[in-house]
Amino acid sequence: MNNLKTKYMGIELDNPIILGACSMTKNLDILKKAEEHGVAAVVYKSLFEEQIQLERLRLDEKLTEFNDINAEMLTIHPNIKYAGCDEHLLNIRKAKESLSIPVIASLNVINEDTWIEYAKLLSETGVDGIELNFYHSPFDFNKEAKDIEEEQINIVKKIKQNTSIPVSIKLSPDYSNILNFIKNMDLVGVDAFVLFNSFFQPDIDIMKEKHVKAFNFSKKGDYKKTLRYSGLLFENIHADICSSYGVFTGVDVIKLILSGSSCVQVVSTVYKNSLTQIDTIKKELKAWMDIKNYHSIDEFRGKLSNNKLTSDSLVYKRTQYVDLLMNSENIFGDSQ
Ligand SMILES: Cc1cc2nc3c(=O)[nH]c(=O)nc-3n(C[C@H](O)[C@H](O)[C@H](O)COP(=O)(O)O)c2cc1C
Repeated sequence: MNNLKTKYMGIELDNPIILGACSMTKNLDILKKAEEHGVAAVVYKSLFEEQIQLERLRLDEKLTEFNDINAEMLTIHPNIKYAGCDEHLLNIRKAKESLSIPVIASLNVINEDTWIEYAKLLSETGVDGIELNFYHSPFDFNKEAKDIEEEQINIVKKIKQNTSIPVSIKLSPDYSNILNFIKNMDLVGVDAFVLFNSFFQPDIDIMKEKHVKAFNFSKKGDYKKTLRYSGLLFENIHADICSSYGVFTGVDVIKLILSGSSCVQVVSTVYKNSLTQIDTIKKELKAWMDIKNYHSIDEFRGKLSNNKLTSDSLVYKRTQYVDLLMNSENIFGDSQ
C-alpha cells in the first residue's frame, strides 16, 4: 500500500495535490467538494491591493459625506473600516473552520505597508499558511531589477518577523536570474516557493483595433518551465518547491516530483475537467507508484533533479539545447 503523504511549508499534506487560488476557492461549497474529492490543501482566492484601496476610497467618501454632520461619526461607526476586506477575512476564517484540510491564504498587493498589515491580519484568521503573490510585471523603464528584488526581499523579511505562520512565495519566472533571487529569499526563511504565476496579458482585436482582456488557461505540457526549475532548486534551498502552471495529469505530477517538487497546485485542469480530476490524478500517481514499487513520495522525489544526475547532468544546461538544435534532423527527419 503506497503512501502519498508529503510536506509543504512545513505542513504535512495527505497527498501532493493542492487546489490553487482561483475564483472557485472563494466558494465554500466548492471547497468542501474539493475536500471530498481528496485534495490535500486549498489556497483561498487572493486578497488584492485594489480591493483594499477601493475599500479605503469608499471609506473616505463615506467620511467626507458625514464631515458636516458630526466629526464623531468615526467613533460611532468604528466597524466601517475596510468592510470588504473584513468580509474576505471572515470568509477565510469560515473556510478554515469548515474544512479539515489545510487552508492557505493568498495576498497580492503592492505597497509595503499593505503587505505587512494584511499578512498579519490573514495570519490571525487561523489559516495554516500564507502565499504571497509577487505579481510584478515590468512597467517602469527606470526601475532597476536589483531594486525590485531588494524591495521584495525586504517585504518578506518584515512579514516573517511579524507573523509566526508558514509563508510561501508565488513567483513570476521573469527574473534575470531567478535562481539567485530564490536563494536570497530562501535565506530570509521563506517556507516554500510556488513556481510559477500566470499573467493576465492584454491582447488585440485586429478588426476593432482595440485591446481585449484575455485570460488564457494554461495548456497540457505547460509545466515544463517549473519542471526545469524544480530540478535545479532541489536540495539547493531549504524551502519546499511547489510546481504550478500547466499541471494537468497524474503523469505531470510524477514528473514534477521526480524533478524535486514536494507538491503541485492545479487550477486550469480543474476548470476544464471538473473536481473529479483530483481523484484521477491521485489514481494515476498511485498506479505508477505500484508499478514502480514505490511506497512513499520521498522515495522518488528529486531522483531526476540536477544534483542527482551524473552522466546526463547537462540536461539542465544550454549544452543540451544546442545539442538538440544541432542534431534537429534526427528529430524531424531529412525531409525538413
Ligand atoms: C479564474 C482564475 C482566477 C485566478 N485567481 C487567482 C488569484 O486570486 N490569486 C492567484 O494567486 N492566482 C490566481 N489565479 C492563477 C492560478 O492560481 C494559477 O497560478 C494559474 O491558473 C496557473 O495554474 P494552472 O496552470 O493550474 O491553471 C487564477 C486563475 C484563474 C484561472
